[in-house]
Amino acid sequence: MKVTVVGAGAVGASCAEYIAIKDFASEVVLLDIKEGYAEGKAMDLMQTASLNGFDTKIVGSTNDYSKTANSDICVITSGIPRKPGMTREELIGINAGIVKTVSSSLIQHSPDTIIIVVSNPMDTMTYLVHETTNIPKSRIIGMGGALDSARFKYRLAEALGCPISDVDGMVIGGHSDKGMVPLIDKATRNGVPVSEFINEDKKDYVVQETKVGGATLTGLLGTSAWYAPGAAVSGLVQAIACDQKKMFPCSTLLDGEYGLSGLCIGVPVILGKNGIEKIVEISLTDAEKTKMQESAEGVKATNGLLA
Ligand code: 2OP
Repeated sequence: MKVTVVGAGAVGASCAEYIAIKDFASEVVLLDIKEGYAEGKAMDLMQTASLNGFDTKIVGSTNDYSKTANSDICVITSGIPRKPGMTREELIGINAGIVKTVSSSLIQHSPDTIIIVVSNPMDTMTYLVHETTNIPKSRIIGMGGALDSARFKYRLAEALGCPISDVDGMVIGGHSDKGMVPLIDKATRNGVPVSEFINEDKKDYVVQETKVGGATLTGLLGTSAWYAPGAAVSGLVQAIACDQKKMFPCSTLLDGEYGLSGLCIGVPVILGKNGIEKIVEISLTDAEKTKMQESAEGVKATNGLLA
C-alpha cells in the first residue's frame, strides 16, 4: 500500500506520522515544493520508527512527482493555511492554483489513485479536483466532516462531563464556519440522545463551538490546526487501505442525493478499498434539511469564485 501526502507542512507531516504509526502502509511519500523540507521531515519521522514501532517507509521528495508513481492513495494538504480572523473561503485565490497543479501531477503518475482533499476551502477544492482530473467521483474524497465530527464529540463530552468514548455524533454540510451542520439531535451518549442530559442552551453552545472549532484554534495558534486534521485524514486513509467499510461524513460530488446536485459537500459515505463505495442518505428533520440547503448555497457561492 503506497500513500502520497502532498504538502509537508504541519497537517501533511502529522498525517504521514499517524499513517506510519498505524503501520498499515508499506510506503508513505511526503512531497513538498520547498527544497529539502519534505526530505527533512521524512528523515525525522523515520528516526522515530524504532521508538514508535513501525515499519512503514517514509520518503521525502522536493517536487519530484515521479517518486509518487503508482500511489494507491494521494492526500492533498498543500496550500496556505488560515491566519487569525480569516475564513477558509479567503484562501481560494492562492490554493485553487496549487490544488489544480498538484492534482494534475498526481494523476499523471498514479492514474488509478484515490485522492483525498484537505486544502481549503475544502469543498470547493474537492470540486476543483473533479473538474481538473475527471476521474470517477468515487475516487475523490474531501476531508472535513471527519475533523468537524471529532471536534463535535470533544465539545459534547465537555458539555456532558463524560469520556469522549461515551459520545457519538456527526457533522455534515460544508466545511465552513457558517455552513457546518452538527447533527445535535442525533448525537448520543452510550446510545441515549444527549437531550436527556443537556438543555437547549447547552446544545446550542456545543453546535456553535463546533462550527468555529477551526477558527478558535487559528486564533490561539496563529495558524490552522494540524494534529486533529492530520489524524482525521489518517482515519480515512486507513478505512480505504484496509477496506474497512466505515462510515464517515466526507465531501463528495452529489447528483440528487439529499436533493442536491453539482457540488461537493459533506454527507455520510461508506469508505472501502474503492474509495467512496456508497453515499448514505439518512433521514433528516426539516430543520436539518433547511440547514443543509443553506450550507449547499454557501458552497456553490464559493465554487462560483473559481476562475
Ligand atoms: C480546520 O478546520 C484546517 O480546515 C481545517 O482546522
